Amino acid sequence: MKPVKVGICGLGTVGGGTFNVLKRNAEEIARRAGRGIEVAQIATRHPNSKCDTGSTPITADIFDIVNNPEIDIVVELIGGYTVAKELVLKAIENGKHVVTANKALIAVHGNEIFAKAREKGVIVAFEASVAGGIPVIKAIREGLAGNRINWLAGIINGTGNFILTEMREKGRTFEDVLKEAQELGYAEADPTFDVEGIDAAHKLTILASIAFGIPLQFDKAYTEGIARLTTADVNYAEALGYRIKHLGVARRTEAGVELRVHPTLIPADRLIANVNGVMNAVMVNGDAVGSTLYYGAGAGMEPTASAVVADVVDVTRALTTGPNNRVPHLAFQPDSLSDHPILPITACESAYYLRIQAKDHPGVLAQVATILSERGINIESIMQKEAEVQDGLVPVILVTHRVVEQRIDDAIAALERLDDVVDKVVRIRVEQLN
Ligand code: HSE
Repeated sequence: MKPVKVGICGLGTVGGGTFNVLKRNAEEIARRAGRGIEVAQIATRHPNSKCDTGSTPITADIFDIVNNPEIDIVVELIGGYTVAKELVLKAIENGKHVVTANKALIAVHGNEIFAKAREKGVIVAFEASVAGGIPVIKAIREGLAGNRINWLAGIINGTGNFILTEMREKGRTFEDVLKEAQELGYAEADPTFDVEGIDAAHKLTILASIAFGIPLQFDKAYTEGIARLTTADVNYAEALGYRIKHLGVARRTEAGVELRVHPTLIPADRLIANVNGVMNAVMVNGDAVGSTLYYGAGAGMEPTASAVVADVVDVTRALTTGPNNRVPHLAFQPDSLSDHPILPITACESAYYLRIQAKDHPGVLAQVATILSERGINIESIMQKEAEVQDGLVPVILVTHRVVEQRIDDAIAALERLDDVVDKVVRIRVEQLN
């Protein structure tokens, strides 16, 4: 059988890795796919020193790939929303299958792209868009297809996790670690996407869609970054038995779906609390299977290429199947997607870590406890650091039971109105993940 012809758009970190893996493992990949897979053309403006492309034809124009009649599968690895969208839609229009690692593109324009792909009977595969080399999309979409998924929670940005880990373990500064992540090729072109939770929200949006069978709704995801985390809170969290991780959480409730990315305290003895460096991990809880955990490299040249190449193999295997006999893009049949709404953050439920800078005199704790109890907020643990009294101020740290966010907002506003409380109250969400 003739080999399948692939065109790679973009020869950066992931594109170079994809070329290398396809070349190095060509024989094993062909045994899996049932036929050879050949890179017929590459579009790039810059050579990649980590990639010997030999005699493979190179063009500077990515649209040469989608217009090349020889090419069966277009691999989009240029990133971004605008040109990438045009490229993918053109590829689909030309009847080509697409493999992409572009989470921003799928999270923001995926509904339109999948509708177009369905119309044309082609596949758009996107395993590499979430958690690099971890096959979590396949696990949820296929491996957990018998379950009603209750919730998922993940460390899905390697750069952010690398920064938090290095700050906690080595006391390095935020800027210093971010620079290293950029040099290693982990960070997004705009690193605020990593540290402000936008990249994680792109990935969470995709995971929530395939877990709950809802359309992609990135614009409704809540994001909060890690740049404002302090060493003091990292240390207090440790003293209370927690680790702070930048977590993406998607939970199905009766009222709607929670879709949120924020720094989160998780019990230090959970496996996921010990996922460090650039590694990613996703916990998925289904009604039949219980909790499952998927762990691996969430970014980097060959880990991400591993997912891209797996998609190329999947598409190759599916070339002879009719469009109606394929796994649906978003796991559920397109006309069976649910309109269960995404909840605003004020309606989401969580436990909370609060740090209150209070004047060190009698009655302050009683006032704090009254404000919380009047709003039905139960305190799980409380810690007052007498040893850290400075200028007559003492940090009061407490962890609440689960409560709807609106009630915590009201309580924080009331606490900040107290004469004995100075500064803003620090609030970090807490998830037990059990
Ligand atoms: N910037 C992303 C990360 C790359 O750090 O996880 C992988 O999507």
